[in-house]
Amino acid sequence: QADVFTYDPGFTSTASCESAITYIDGNKGELLYRGYPIEQLAQKSHYLETCYLLLYGELPNKAQMEDFEYRVTRHTMLHEQINNFFRGFRRDAHPMATMVGVVGGLSAFYHDSLDITDPWQREVAAIRMIAKLPTIAAMAYKYSIGQPIVYPRNDLDYASNFLHMCFAVPAEPYHVEPALAKAMDRIMMLHADHEQNASTSTVRLAGSSGANPFACIAAGIACLWGPAHGGANQACLEMLREIGTVDRIPEFIARAKDKNDPFKLMGFGHRVYKNFDPRAKVMKESADEVLGLLGVENNPLLQVAKELEKIALEDEYFIEKKLYPNVDFYSGIILEAMGFPTAMFTPIFALSRTIGWISQWKEMIEDPTGKIGRPRQLYTGATARDYTDVATR
Ligand code: SDX
Repeated sequence: QADVFTYDPGFTSTASCESAITYIDGNKGELLYRGYPIEQLAQKSHYLETCYLLLYGELPNKAQMEDFEYRVTRHTMLHEQINNFFRGFRRDAHPMATMVGVVGGLSAFYHDSLDITDPWQREVAAIRMIAKLPTIAAMAYKYSIGQPIVYPRNDLDYASNFLHMCFAVPAEPYHVEPALAKAMDRIMMLHADHEQNASTSTVRLAGSSGANPFACIAAGIACLWGPAHGGANQACLEMLREIGTVDRIPEFIARAKDKNDPFKLMGFGHRVYKNFDPRAKVMKESADEVLGLLGVENNPLLQVAKELEKIALEDEYFIEKKLYPNVDFYSGIILEAMGFPTAMFTPIFALSRTIGWISQWKEMIEDPTGKIGRPRQLYTGATARDYTDVATR
């Protein structure tokens, strides 16, 4: 029926698409990538294999995995002229700001992967994106700290290569600690996809107009940056630092419960999970593991985080509203222990989520029933009226 709409602010009960990629049962705290539980993948798989699974729907056999790795590593470098693009930004820019610009700008460089009607070009665009996002994030970081860019090394696995590009310097050899690379890989895997979250919905909406894939992913990165979404990992660590010591937790819990205070516990709550976020559980174990490995298990931020979680989970307000730690609650503690500054937390979320965005974009483009996304509105403005001359106003 024309002009009759369902009003659903925040899309709390609107399915915007059909998808066969990721399944979430928010009441059970269940997350499946193509049917496989996240806990099993986090333990047994690795990020690139998970990328293959999300993109193509099945786990690869050995030959398929080798071929995929070969194709991804062939595309890890950027067009050299993109270095000039970086130089146009202020050094103190947030790396997310730089990434939005550079990723959008990729469509000015890779003209052979812009035709979305050509399956080969779509495939190359997907591979390029998976391969280049770590390089772009690492370059944004190096640029922000005034160090020379470190080029990718294709003999390293995906996570090790990213750590190498971030932390190596030309002046001395850099050894990637395998256990840290494993932890980095797991963080990437836990962030890889999450069905129709705000940034993925943004990518789909941008893509529904036929916009090129680089433009769509840039839109996703822009959306992810917000503190209610991927920006929460940075905001959460800043909050833990502000709390500082365990004795100050009650003060912050009281603020989070106060209707008149805009403060919220960052890294807490989720639109879909009403029991627990299974990624947060794995992330918490990972935090213990990594901090133990680095000999900083008594890190005061980890102590504050654990105590905050404990107090909140016993508090009536959080129990009643079903608020639990989400994926962003423990990730920052691990990343900080690895040596990343807080400004790099959301770029790491973005490069990890790129596979989810591109898989969802590809699924949408290949759906023959696809239409341009075009929500309607409930108009609340003035009724029709006549224009008046400025002299009479
Ligand atoms: C991500 O969607 C995804 O899948 C996202 C994500 C992904 O992988 O893509 O999982 C990644 O974005 C994780 C979320 C990161 N954001 C934060 O940690 C920021 C803090 N959390 C929130 O702002 C909030 O919980 C959201 C944004 C995550 C969810 O928002 P909703 O579903 O719109 O819920 P809401 O804001 O309407 O909250 C419901 C009630 C409100 O109280 P009432 O008005 O009903 O009295 O719960 C309260 C809120 O005030 N509430 C909180 C709270 N989160 C919600 N109160 C205190 N602290 C909090 N963190």
